[in-house]
This record gives sequence, C-alpha cells and structure tokens, in this order.
Amino acid sequence: MARRKYVVGNWKMNGLTAALGEAQAIFDAAKAHPAVDVALCPPFTLIGPMLAAAPGAAVGGQDCHSAVSGAYTGSVAAAMLADIGATLVIVGHSERREGFGESDADVKAKAEAALAAGLSVILCVGEPREVRESGGAIDYVLAQVAGSLPADFDASRLAIAYEPIWAIGTGLVPTVDDVAAMHGAIRAKLGERAGSGAAGTMRILYGGSVNAENAAELLGAGDVDGALVGGASLTAVKFVPIIAAGAGL
Ligand code: PGA
Repeated sequence: MARRKYVVGNWKMNGLTAALGEAQAIFDAAKAHPAVDVALCPPFTLIGPMLAAAPGAAVGGQDCHSAVSGAYTGSVAAAMLADIGATLVIVGHSERREGFGESDADVKAKAEAALAAGLSVILCVGEPREVRESGGAIDYVLAQVAGSLPADFDASRLAIAYEPIWAIGTGLVPTVDDVAAMHGAIRAKLGERAGSGAAGTMRILYGGSVNAENAAELLGAGDVDGALVGGASLTAVKFVPIIAAGAGL
C-alpha cells in the first residue's frame, strides 16, 4: 500500500500570535498539494489560535505529559491537546531527551498516553554525532525504537521520525544512502512488533536540516515517507517548497 507523504513543521519555542499569518499561508498553499499530509506543531500557546485561523488543519503539540492530569506544574496532558482540537503530538524529540532528561521509558509512556487520548504520535529517535562516527548509529537508533514504542499501538496513528542529533539545526545532513539504510532498519524493527504488513503502512519521517534545496532528494530516499522540519517550517516561503517536493514524488 502506498504511504502518503507527511510533512510536519516543528516550530519549537518560536512563534507569537503575529506568526499565525504564516500558518494560514502554509495551510492555504498545502491545499494545492492534496497528496501530501501537512501538519504544524507550534508552541502550546498557539495551538488554539492556529486552529481558529486555519479551521480543520492538522495542528499538534511538541510534547505531552504521560499522566492524564495531576500535580505536574507546567505540563500539558495529551487529553488537553485533544480537547482543544490538536490531532497529533511529537514525543521523544532529542531536545526533550537531552535537555529534559527524557528516557526511552518516559517517551514510551508519553506515546501511550497520547494514543489513549486519541492523538496521532510522531515518535522521534536519532543518534548523536559520536555514535554516527563510531559506526553504531543503526544499533543505537533501533534500541531507542525498541525502548520507546508503546506496548500496543494502532499502526495508523504512529509515525517514527529519524532525526540524527548532529543534523538538527546544523545544516549537516546524512547521505541519502545512510538515511535509506536507517529507515529500512527502522521499518524492519517495526515489523518485529507490528507485523510486516502493518509496518509497511507506517510512515517514517526524516528530520534534521531539511530545506527547499535538499527536500526532494531526502523525501525520495527509500523508506522515507516525509519530513519533520524545524527552522524551515517557520515561514511559508521556506516550508511550502518542501511540501511541494513531497508532492512531486
Ligand atoms: P531543523 O530541526 O529542521 O531546524 O534541523 C528539525 C527538528 O528538530 O525537528
């Protein structure tokens, strides 16, 4: 079964209400590329306003807590995201794993909470530079996948994002062959858990310095079903060509 391309913007801690016009322009332009699924994950504060500005758009969170509610100052539960109309959430981004000490077990619990709340999940994995240089990237990432996957999951609501840490925000990208090899290995690992039929339907996104120039090549690599884009997702002028690249494949 052909997998629809999925191009997702992660705004990280960027965006005031003045940026909502960019989101509107992005979702408007995306309508010209109906073969591509497009989503934006702005800061929590902009999820509601973005949905008001672009009704029906796929808007999501960048993180959620694993508990349903409780004494977790500053945190947002998956059900709260769903309650305001978000349809997806990113979990396990390396900036959460590294900056906030999130373990594979934490990421797994968050993914399970998000699925239970009815959200789709983009579960991020990726190796640091020294692991890539030592030749251990595939083993490292497959261990993250094994440790972070929910105990049970609906394959239609779970995507994986492979984001080498050294490629995020740096302008560096792995070779297309390395990306294809990693994605193929991730899909085989998903097959061990979900069965190869279901794994064949799951989307595996590449993330890390995706831009208008390299998008077509990266999105065209074997087993690459889309992109998770940081810096280049903040404006329509940079993000729309990435969506168009996905549509051209
Ligand atoms: P980047 O970020 O596109 O700015 O490298 C990607 C990400 O962290 O998801």
